[in-house]
Amino acid sequence: MPQDVLQEILLRRGFLCPSYEVYGGVSGFYDYAPLGAMLKRNIENLWRRYFVVEEGFFEVDTPTIAPEQVFVASGHVENFADPVVSCRKCGTTYRADHLVQERLGLSSVSAEPEKLQELINEHGIKCNCGGELGEVARSSLMFSTGIGAGGRRRGYLRPETAQGMFILFPRLYAFYRKRLPFGVAQIGRAYRNEISPRQGLLRLREFTQAEAEIFVDPAEKAKHPRFAKYAGDRLRLLPRDGVEVVLSASEAVRRGVLPHEFLAYYLAHTQRFLLELGIPAERLRFRQHLRDEMAHYAEDCWDAEVKTERYGWVEVVGIADRTDYDLRAHERMSGAEMKAFRQFSEPVVRRELRLVPEMQTLGPEFRALAPKIAEKVRSLGERAAREFERTGRLEVEVGDERVVLTERHLRVEEVELRVTGEKFTPHVIEPSFGIDRILYAVLECALSEREGKRVLRLRPAIAPVKAAVFPLLAKEELEKLARSLFEELRRQGVVAVYDASDSIGRRYARVDEIGVPFAVTVDFESLENGTVTLRLRDTAEQLRVASREVPELIRSLCSGMSWQELRERLEAES
Ligand code: GLY
Repeated sequence: MPQDVLQEILLRRGFLCPSYEVYGGVSGFYDYAPLGAMLKRNIENLWRRYFVVEEGFFEVDTPTIAPEQVFVASGHVENFADPVVSCRKCGTTYRADHLVQERLGLSSVSAEPEKLQELINEHGIKCNCGGELGEVARSSLMFSTGIGAGGRRRGYLRPETAQGMFILFPRLYAFYRKRLPFGVAQIGRAYRNEISPRQGLLRLREFTQAEAEIFVDPAEKAKHPRFAKYAGDRLRLLPRDGVEVVLSASEAVRRGVLPHEFLAYYLAHTQRFLLELGIPAERLRFRQHLRDEMAHYAEDCWDAEVKTERYGWVEVVGIADRTDYDLRAHERMSGAEMKAFRQFSEPVVRRELRLVPEMQTLGPEFRALAPKIAEKVRSLGERAAREFERTGRLEVEVGDERVVLTERHLRVEEVELRVTGEKFTPHVIEPSFGIDRILYAVLECALSEREGKRVLRLRPAIAPVKAAVFPLLAKEELEKLARSLFEELRRQGVVAVYDASDSIGRRYARVDEIGVPFAVTVDFESLENGTVTLRLRDTAEQLRVASREVPELIRSLCSGMSWQELRERLEAES
């Protein structure tokens, strides 16, 4: 189907619209109009079912603005930038890797400015206007801002929701009663100052992410506690060697295509979510990032990609193993401990060197300060003891004073310690969903045609409007009954629309186009026996059901009951 058809429907029927339209628009920003906003919310709620309720995670909500330190620590200030190049003649700025890729017909190119410069020079790539291109440079993708009066403290709009969750780690660890693995989730806006966003919902400057961060003991990454649930799920995998394979999740781990069960589990969990949204299995694959494509924090990353008609394969989810990169980074920058404790199965006896204070010399020399110095010295570990052994000198701070201790004040002794466990920095597995891209893919996959008319086959669970109520004809007695059914649906929490104008065929066509899965028509038989017709959007099949049962039936049909099951139930009852 021509892609402009989808764009036209989305605009005309109130799903989406370019932001600031009346001011001429600003690229990279989209408004969700009424139906789009509800569809988006329903997708987010399904995500919550998968990544919050089912997984037993909790959701947090952290600010979208953060002080500079956060993104210095995370590496975004240094690394989160795209290569750009501008025309010396007309000033147009391009994303250099996209320009080179497009002009040379390549499927991917390195994002390194030096390599891109070489390709531009070697192939004589010029601006669309024919002008010479300047030097390839890196341009930060973060929006900066000033916090407080006069904006003296530099801040950034977050480019991912993830950092808010990493920073919260000490609180989360306590909340989850110091047991790993645990996960935390967040749905919220993120911001990237894209160079030239021209791909609608795929490249927005303000967009919605749904991210889960799963904190895991690196020694236990190989085994996911619930892996059995997905062990047999078949995954279409495109590893970085470029040879596509279809393997069960367990085979993929056994053959080493996926490094561990944690990553495999979240690929399979993501696949189930995307299938439930209505993305067909044949349009879905998982592609491993090339080494030079991976974000600075990732050790491994697999994208869930959907084959779209308009843009080809599109990344909609990134599932990354971020290792201990982020927690270590924030520990270094903030000084706050970002570690967990691992209990040994039984205590281990260790021989270690320790510093022992010599009170006979400390006492007379330091008087009242001596007990405090002794306490400080006893709290130091083996590293300090070894350093003292090497240098014969130790400088400590006690209260406001700095004191220098020598071999007259301390000795080194080997002690036997019963160690019950150890501290370590957890690793993080991160499934990160681009909600806007998913929404686009869902819409594209849902659009179909029947007898020359558009039908948006959105799954009932995510359709913005669940039911349409029509009186067959504009007669008062039919309208009265239809209106009361419409009111009852809304009273019972079913989002519905009412329409009494035009022919019944036109009304069906109108609601098919916006993806309303069920239509209820009140006719003359309804006045006699209290039954109405219930019509399924996808096949136009109709069943006769009791009017009073309609709200409950629609709720069941939107939460898992199939049309086939309903038909069989009605046949058994008749
Ligand atoms: N948190 C992953 C990303 O934003 O790309």
